[in-house]
Amino acid sequence: MPVQKKATLLIKNIGQMITMAGPVPRLGADMKQLGLIDNGGVAVAGDEILAVGKSDEIEGRAPLAEGCVVIDAKGMVVTPGFIDPHTHPVFSMTRENEFEMRILGKSYMEIASAGGGIRASVSDLRNSPTELFIQRTSRRLDRLLAYGVTTIEAKSGYGLSTESEIRQLEIIQNLNETHPIDLVATFLGAHEVPDEYRDRRKEYADLVINEMLPKVTGAKLAEFSDIFCEEGVFDIEESRRIQQAAKNYGLGLKFHADELKSTGGAELAASMDAVSADHLVYASETGIKAMAESGTVAVLLPGTTFSLAGSTYAPARRMIEAGVTVALSTDCNPGSSHTESLPMIISLAALQLRMTAAEAISAVTVNAACAINRQDRIGRLEVGCQADIVVWEMNDYRELPYHYGVNLARMVVKKGKLLTGLGNDTSGRKTMGPV
Ligand code: NIG
Ligand code: FE
Repeated sequence: MPVQKKATLLIKNIGQMITMAGPVPRLGADMKQLGLIDNGGVAVAGDEILAVGKSDEIEGRAPLAEGCVVIDAKGMVVTPGFIDPHTHPVFSMTRENEFEMRILGKSYMEIASAGGGIRASVSDLRNSPTELFIQRTSRRLDRLLAYGVTTIEAKSGYGLSTESEIRQLEIIQNLNETHPIDLVATFLGAHEVPDEYRDRRKEYADLVINEMLPKVTGAKLAEFSDIFCEEGVFDIEESRRIQQAAKNYGLGLKFHADELKSTGGAELAASMDAVSADHLVYASETGIKAMAESGTVAVLLPGTTFSLAGSTYAPARRMIEAGVTVALSTDCNPGSSHTESLPMIISLAALQLRMTAAEAISAVTVNAACAINRQDRIGRLEVGCQADIVVWEMNDYRELPYHYGVNLARMVVKKGKLLTGLGNDTSGRKTMGPV
């Protein structure tokens, strides 16, 4: 007889339990479906979800192991751990000077061509010790977790030499092993052309293709390859060539596409069956249709437009209407979007992309999981999924975008373990009280 698994963690009395059971990915009107269970409960065995249902039935369905951690959610909202599918988290030097220059009227590209931007972060990465990056990135990961994010995609791209790109990917690998958050690594050697190759662009592309890609894939340091496909960075033909090589090495494709201008990036990503195309502020109608057709996920980053003091946001409603898989992300990086708050991105998505709370939650759970090929395991609270769970200090999930700029993530469970020390375990609400 199979051994009956016992619950090692149980959350009961959940006012609204958002399971996300339902279609994967969530497209069009289905983005509003949250698989919501009122007065729900969830039982966990080890690092997996054991049972999901009504609170008063859950204990009957899942016998408790000795020492089982029991959490009374007292009517709060519970969701799957959020997934942030686009980050550049490995940096030590911050760039508040550039932020100030932007406020005073300089554009992101003007600052970049004056030696700031990505190249400033490259010089920092090449010249500072690995230990410093591990320390600072680790603090950043703590903050992401505290905001309810349990998995992130993490890019290299501040090395731009074989040795420094590999060092950055090794830092990501190290943090994945030592930090509770899960990191999915993306190689972004084509983030910019480094200074020493300024007049030899083709040679830099050759280096990425002939040296970096074999080494990175040989050492299994990345699952995805990304490129900054933009006027003044890598054009469509260069992007196609580099990403075709990455695909031949077995990497999934991602693109920074149509962020500052419409260049056909969305069309290119779709034509290469990319897993995702990100930014897409200026994606064309043809590009949107092509992405719906190829199933390429649109990862929208409204925090970047916000932090670049821009006024044009990605055409999210049009994408949803066209049947594109829409995900949301912080783009956490020292230049264009310095934040670890995915809930703040949800507020921006509501106000600037006109996405409802339910659509935004779909975009940071199931659809974000699709953007990193993890849809079988995370983004849902269903039996057999990884037990990444967040308890939110609210009674109605629609409070998430509405109550903006504050952290309402009250408890975070990662792989079945209730994390402590995140600083979230205080309650401002008399009705909820301490657990
Ligand atoms: O996603 N667009 C290119 N890359 C980042 C910015 C990186 C930086 O400025 O350091 C982005 O916005
Ligand atoms: Fe980015």
